[in-house]
Amino acid sequence: MAPTALLEGANLRKTYRLGRDTTVEALRGVDVRIEPGEMVAIMGPSGSGKSTLMHILGLLHAPDLNHGPRPELRFEGRDIVALSDAERTRIRARRMGFVFQDFNLVPTLTALENVMLACDYAGVRGPAARTASRGALDLVGLAGRGDHRPVELSGGEQQRVAIARALVNRPSLVLADEPTGNLDSERSAEVLALLRRFNREHGQTFVLVTHDAEVGAACDRVVRMRDGRVRDQAPVALATPVDLSPRVAAVA
Ligand SMILES: Nc1ncnc2c1ncn2[C@@H]1O[C@H](COP(=O)(O)OP(=O)(O)OP(=O)(O)O)[C@@H](O)[C@H]1O
Ligand SMILES: [Mg+2]
Repeated sequence: MAPTALLEGANLRKTYRLGRDTTVEALRGVDVRIEPGEMVAIMGPSGSGKSTLMHILGLLHAPDLNHGPRPELRFEGRDIVALSDAERTRIRARRMGFVFQDFNLVPTLTALENVMLACDYAGVRGPAARTASRGALDLVGLAGRGDHRPVELSGGEQQRVAIARALVNRPSLVLADEPTGNLDSERSAEVLALLRRFNREHGQTFVLVTHDAEVGAACDRVVRMRDGRVRDQAPVALATPVDLSPRVAAVA
């Protein structure tokens, strides 16, 4: 038997009803499997269903239940299709972290308070929450910025606060929708390196929706979508940087 996937979905469909006779089939039956410790990119043209899939995998939205084969969705070996909203919220708060393109920080709170909010949702409060949040800000290189509000931070710094918030409860899965979409290439590379480091050092699993080929190339595998379906989910060739030093030495 194959080892348990961290996240496994089958027959995932999502249809949006826009009017009495108009519907959009955002997902037309997707099967996807994410292994523990993987870093996976979801890529594809605009409107192909990437965010819809991410929202379903992150338990933010439910897949359609009313037509087609019954959808399946398992997280950490547990069937989550039939869970109540309260149970789904609980799993999301404690076991998952989210990063979005526009950072989604609360503007009236400081960086530290924004991170502490995620602790609060997970039921961690008081000094334990403060210590964990300080630690998370430290890990993303923002130890000195805890008292700044989002408006007093650069875009790259705001995204790092959002990453600290996503990681503070040590989730097994981090889902990110265009995490580098609003950043210039240098800031984007920093954020990517940070995510890759957490993936390698803490074994956390990342699923990143991205338009950026460089982000895709830095991942272990790319799930390519088109028209609400998965077209391909091949491993990224040469995901580990090739060591060129012997050749360099030979040339020298
Ligand atoms: N709430 C909604 N109501 C109606 N249609 C929606 C809704 N959300 C998404 N859609 C439609 O579903 C399809 C897939 O949307 P989705 O947001 O998943 O695409 P995407 O691949 O993330 O695109 P992008 O790269 O532009 O973010 C699109 O045709 C979109 O218009
Ligand atoms: Mg999208």
